[in-house]
Amino acid sequence: MAVEMELSGNWNYPTAIRFGAGRIGELADVCRDLGMKRPLLVTDPGLAALPMIADAAAGCRAAGLVCEVFADVQGNPVAKNVDDGVAVFRAGGHDGVIAFGGGSALDVGKAVALMVGQTRPIWDFEDREDWYTRVDVEGMAPVVAVPTTSGTGSEVGRASVITDERDHTKKIIFHPRMLPAQVIADPELTLGLPPNITAAVGMDALSHNLEAFCSPFYHPLAQGIALEGIRLVKDWLPTACREGDNVKARSHMMAASTMGAAAFQKGLGAMHALSHPLGAVLDIHHGLTNAVVMPCVLVFNRSAIEEKMTALARYLDLPDPAFQAVVDWILALREEIGVPADLAALGLREDQIGQLARMAAVDPSAGSNPLPLTEENLTTLYQMALQGRIG
Ligand SMILES: [Fe+2]
Repeated sequence: MAVEMELSGNWNYPTAIRFGAGRIGELADVCRDLGMKRPLLVTDPGLAALPMIADAAAGCRAAGLVCEVFADVQGNPVAKNVDDGVAVFRAGGHDGVIAFGGGSALDVGKAVALMVGQTRPIWDFEDREDWYTRVDVEGMAPVVAVPTTSGTGSEVGRASVITDERDHTKKIIFHPRMLPAQVIADPELTLGLPPNITAAVGMDALSHNLEAFCSPFYHPLAQGIALEGIRLVKDWLPTACREGDNVKARSHMMAASTMGAAAFQKGLGAMHALSHPLGAVLDIHHGLTNAVVMPCVLVFNRSAIEEKMTALARYLDLPDPAFQAVVDWILALREEIGVPADLAALGLREDQIGQLARMAAVDPSAGSNPLPLTEENLTTLYQMALQGRIG
C-alpha cells in the first residue's frame, strides 16, 4: 500500500522555508531566530480584520515580542504605502518586518524593510543597471514572509513591484537582500480564499512558471522547477477552486506559487509585459490579466516555443501532446475555474490600448519574451485579448 506523503518540510532554497499546515504557530520562534524583539506586521486592511492576523500578533506578544500591525496597504501598492509603513516602523522603534498577506502586503513589507535604512528616495533603487548598489545594506531590517494567497510567490522574490503614481507605471524595486530571510508557507492560511481569488492568483502562479519555462535564457535549475510548477497547477488548481478547504490542494498550489517565483529569475515575458500596464493604469487584478492574455501570448510565441510546448504537453500527459494541446488545456482550465476570456469584461476600452502598448514595450518583462516585442505587436496582442481572440 502506498504511504501518503506528508506535505510538510523545511526547505533551504531559494531561502529558508518552513512549509506545511499549521506552521504559522512557529512565527514567534522565527522572529526570534532573526533577532527581532519588536516586529512590525505589515498586511492589508482586509486581512487585518480577520482572526488570522490578530492570532499571529497575539502569538508573538505571548512569546514576549512587541508586535504592532500596519495595514495601510492597497492592491497594486503605491510608494505612499511604503512611506507610511516606514514612518510607523521608525515611530514604534521596530527591528524587523513580518510581511503577511498576498502580493501587495508582501511587496510593501519587503520595501518597508529596505527603506527604513535608506536616505535616498525609493525610485533610486529601481531594477536598472547596478542601481541596487546604492542601497545601504546595513540599514535594512530582517523580514519574515508569510504568504496568504498562492500566486505571486513574492515570499521568495528579491524585488517588490510598486506603482509610481506620478506616471502610473509599475516599477520593480530590487536588491538581492530583499529576499526574505525566513518564510512560513502555511497552506491553511489560504483555506478561506474565495474561488474567484483562488483562480486569479493561481493563474498568476501558472503564468510565472509558464513564462519562465518559455524564456529563451539558459537556466536549467529554473527550467526544472517551472515544469513541475505547471504540473502542480494542472493537477490541483481546479480542486483548490472547487473545494476551498482541501488542504492537499491548497498545499500543492502554495508550492506551485513559490516555485513560480523561484523560476522566474530565468525571465518573464509578454504575459507580464501586457499585464503590468493594465494593473498600473486600470487597477485590474494582476492574475486575471495574466489569465486573459495567456493563450494569445502562447500563440504569438509559437514559432519559438513549439518544441518546449510539446515537451510540456508530454509531461502534463495531455492527449495528442503538441503545442495545441497546451493551449486547449489552458482554455479549458480557464473556463472550468471561471476566469473571463477577454479584457473587455475586465473594463478595458479600445482607446486605451495605444498608451498601454507604449508602456508594455518598455516593461522590464518584455526583454525575456521568446520573440521580440514592439509597440506594434503588443498593440495587436491587446486588441486580440480585448475581444478574446486567440489566433
Ligand atoms: Fe505575476
